[in-house]
Amino acid sequence: MNTPQPLLEVSDLSIDYVNGRRKVRVVKDVNFTIQRGQTLGLVGESGSGKSTIGRALLGLVPAAEGSMMFDGTQLAGLGRKNRQQLSRRIQVIFQDPYSSLDITKTIGYTLAEPLRQHTKISKAELEERVKAMLERVGLPPEAAERYPAQFSGGQRQRIAIARALIGEPDFVVCDEPVSALDLSIQAEVMNLLAKLQRSMGLSLLFISHDLSVVRHISDELVVLRRGVIVEHGPAETVYANPQHEYTRALLDASPVPNPEEQALRRARRQALASAK
Ligand SMILES: Nc1ncnc2c1ncn2[C@@H]1O[C@H](COP(=O)(O)OP(=O)(O)OP(=O)(O)O)[C@@H](O)[C@H]1O
Ligand SMILES: [Mg+2]
Repeated sequence: MNTPQPLLEVSDLSIDYVNGRRKVRVVKDVNFTIQRGQTLGLVGESGSGKSTIGRALLGLVPAAEGSMMFDGTQLAGLGRKNRQQLSRRIQVIFQDPYSSLDITKTIGYTLAEPLRQHTKISKAELEERVKAMLERVGLPPEAAERYPAQFSGGQRQRIAIARALIGEPDFVVCDEPVSALDLSIQAEVMNLLAKLQRSMGLSLLFISHDLSVVRHISDELVVLRRGVIVEHGPAETVYANPQHEYTRALLDASPVPNPEEQALRRARRQALASAK
């Protein structure tokens, strides 16, 4: 029996940043695959290299070593023109939609942009597609005439999701898309993302510092510490039975409603911090 080819296969990926004359390796020999229609959760503390991996996949930082095969195309070292051709298929949702949405353009203009770039399409059809996409993310059609400042944080993140998905990509890098939102709004936006992921058959790389946020949406989880993968497995297994003390500490950092459990977690966190 043939095993299905993954949509994305990252092998021995290392990434460097140059600080003055010094080269610092911030991602080291990272390996993972993402199957079509599946979600990989990438978690780790601040500075562990999560966004750097996302940025490498988007072509925003070069890979120092290793390979990133996307549906038969090598992303490492891909030229600008070939990268541009892939931009419809690979999209991104960032934490802060305010800095990623153009505040001088209407929502309708911003959403239509990816379609204008990649397809010949009539004005009427553009408007239809924009309205349909707004509806899918739970916003009224009139939102097309308004500007980013006229929306709440949660609504703006819905707009960023609409912009990423309107061109029907295959793969979306979600870099802490709900981290700036209130807890109740976080849940709404996560549910929306999960729903759209299923209905559009998307593959996601879902980056978060909070393991409990990515738990439900992820098929697999990768735990990153100082640029190195310390744990990798099915999401429920990693969540229910973490093998690495660092994964346990990350779990302990998520708020829990039970005070006894909270105290236990705090103690474990302190023990780990003093063992560093
Ligand atoms: N442009 C840059 N130049 C030099 N070093 C950088 C640059 N961007 C990030 N770094 C460093 O690379 C490491 C990884 O950063 P990265 O942003 O990938 O972490 P992260 O896991 O996304 O953290 P956070 O949860 O805070 O977003 C950090 O040590 C960071 O200081
Ligand atoms: Mg980051």
